[in-house]
Amino acid sequence: MKRAIYPGSFDPVTNGHLDIIRRSANIVDELYVAVLNNSAKNSLFSVDERVSMLEELIVDLPNVKVVSFQGLLVDFAREIGATIIIRGLRAVTDFEYELQIAQTNHVEYDEIETVFLTTSLQYSYLSSTIVKEFAAYGGDISHFVPEQLIDRIYQKYGIKKGEKHE
Ligand code: PNS
Repeated sequence: MKRAIYPGSFDPVTNGHLDIIRRSANIVDELYVAVLNNSAKNSLFSVDERVSMLEELIVDLPNVKVVSFQGLLVDFAREIGATIIIRGLRAVTDFEYELQIAQTNHVEYDEIETVFLTTSLQYSYLSSTIVKEFAAYGGDISHFVPEQLIDRIYQKYGIKKGEKHE
C-alpha cells in the first residue's frame, strides 16, 4: 500500500494544484492532501475554509483525503504512515528550494521519498500568489481556479458579483 502526502498552503487551491492531485491519485494507493496550519502566516482563507474547499473538489476521487497539519511535515508523514511526499515543479526556479526541502526531509526521515510531478504546461505560470494579486484588483481569475471558488475568493476582497471583470 503506497500512501502519499501532498502538502501545501493551498491559499487558495488553484487549477494547478488540482491537476497535481488528480495525477498523483492515479499513481499512489492513498493520497492525503495536507493543508499547512501555520498561524504565523497571514492567510487569505482559514485552514478550515481551505480544507472544506479542497474536500468539495475531490469528491470524485475515492482514494484522496484532505487533512490539516501543524509542525514538521516529516513528523506528520510518519504519524499517518506516508512514505511519499508529492510536490509539483513548475519551473527551474522552483527546483533549488524544493531540492533543499526534499533532501532535508529525507535526512530527518529516511523512509520518506519526495516525488516531483512536473506541472502541466497550461498551469506552469500559476500560483496562489498570482491568483490573490489578480483577485484583489478584480481581475479575471476564471482560468486559474475552479468555478465554484471564484466568488468566495472575490468576497475576501469585498468584491461583489458584477463588480469583477467578466
Ligand atoms: O504550498 P507551499 O507554501 O509551497 O507549501 C510549503 C510546505 C507546506 C510544503 C512547507 O512549508 C512545509 O512542509 N512546511 C511544514 C514545516 C516543515 O516541515 N518544514 C521543513 C521543510 S523546510
